[in-house]
Amino acid sequence: MFWMGSYPGTLFLVSFFHFSYPWSVNNFLMTGPKAYLIYSSSVAAGAQSGIEECKFQFAWDRWNCPERALQLSSHGGLRSANRETAFVHAISSAGVMYTLTRNCSLGDFDNCGCDDSRNGQLGGQGWLWGGCSDNVGFGEAISKQFVDALETGQDARAAMNLHNNEAGRKAVKGTMKRTCKCHGVSGSCTTQTCWLQLPEFREVGTYLKEKYHKGLKVDLLQGAGNSAASRGAIAETFSSISKKELVHLEDSPDYCLENKTLGLLGTEGRECLKRGKALSKWEKRSCQRLCGDCGLAVEERRAEMVSSCNCKFHWCCAVRCEQCRKRVTKYYCVRKEKRERGGGSAASRKLKRKQP
Ligand SMILES: *[C@@H]1O[C@H](CO)[C@@H](O)[C@H](O)[C@H]1NC(C)=O
Ligand SMILES: *[C@@H]1O[C@H](CO)[C@@H](O)[C@H](O)[C@H]1NC(C)=O
Repeated sequence: MFWMGSYPGTLFLVSFFHFSYPWSVNNFLMTGPKAYLIYSSSVAAGAQSGIEECKFQFAWDRWNCPERALQLSSHGGLRSANRETAFVHAISSAGVMYTLTRNCSLGDFDNCGCDDSRNGQLGGQGWLWGGCSDNVGFGEAISKQFVDALETGQDARAAMNLHNNEAGRKAVKGTMKRTCKCHGVSGSCTTQTCWLQLPEFREVGTYLKEKYHKGLKVDLLQGAGNSAASRGAIAETFSSISKKELVHLEDSPDYCLENKTLGLLGTEGRECLKRGKALSKWEKRSCQRLCGDCGLAVEERRAEMVSSCNCKFHWCCAVRCEQCRKRVTKYYCVRKEKRERGGGSAASRKLKRKQP
């Protein structure tokens, strides 16, 4: 059975073949194909939201979550196993769990509702569990079935992907918020009932981006065969690392440079940000990171944007607007010799190019 998730410019093909046995969720016994039909649209929407979040989080990084990196399936030959691969797995897995959980809370599935398993119990000082907690247990179980089933190997790469899938699910759980309601005479709040709510998915993305920066490299690729001994070593290594952390096996390539073999575009031609009130520190440094540090120059391009403005309502019933022109300045990474075209000899250009 195949699931085709589409994303502009690419199609990623994912196969599910772990449906030969029945499995149960919330005492609701389901066999494979039926489960596939119930959850597949939600799983696809979740994977999509993971990809969108990846693009958002890496918009101003040298590696910007290109389509080519989004191959989650182990089919299709060589896969990388670097820090970015780790993030893609974690955010996709988190997206699927998040969407399934949210669908459940919205009543989209017959067999699932709030998690009220702890209701009535003491949660902490002065509060009891109560209300409708988002059912992450459900989202976790189903997303695991779908996403982890894509790893069929037993090598270090498969172990890495499974670890990072789990880190994604832990991120959803770990960013949930406790929300409380007061009870008591005229809102005196003598007791409170509390439940757990999913955060905005953005928060999960931001959390995982931090984990990405702290990603751990493990050395398992050298001389790793497929023997029982090496499988044991792999299992032992991964079990010693916290499930919250992202793990990778290889160093990342140089994302400054175009590399057709690896499907990398390089940073030439990328837009970067310079001035703006609401820019974060990371965004403000984007021209340096994408252009300067990659041996490229920053080119300023001015453009005029036309938009409707000063709209007035005329009685009755028309709205008339003026056309306003706004000058916008944008910045792009360009090759140094291109920018300096006209000045300098061919020899001096060659020299400049050699510099890193
Ligand atoms: C679950 O939610 C997603 C996104 O909110 C939506 O596209 C999808 O159709 C929902 N699935 C079901 C089964 O309702
Ligand atoms: C592309 O990457 C491969 C693998 O890292 C490397 O061997 C090769 O030299 C690179 N090619 C270019 C043009 O940088």
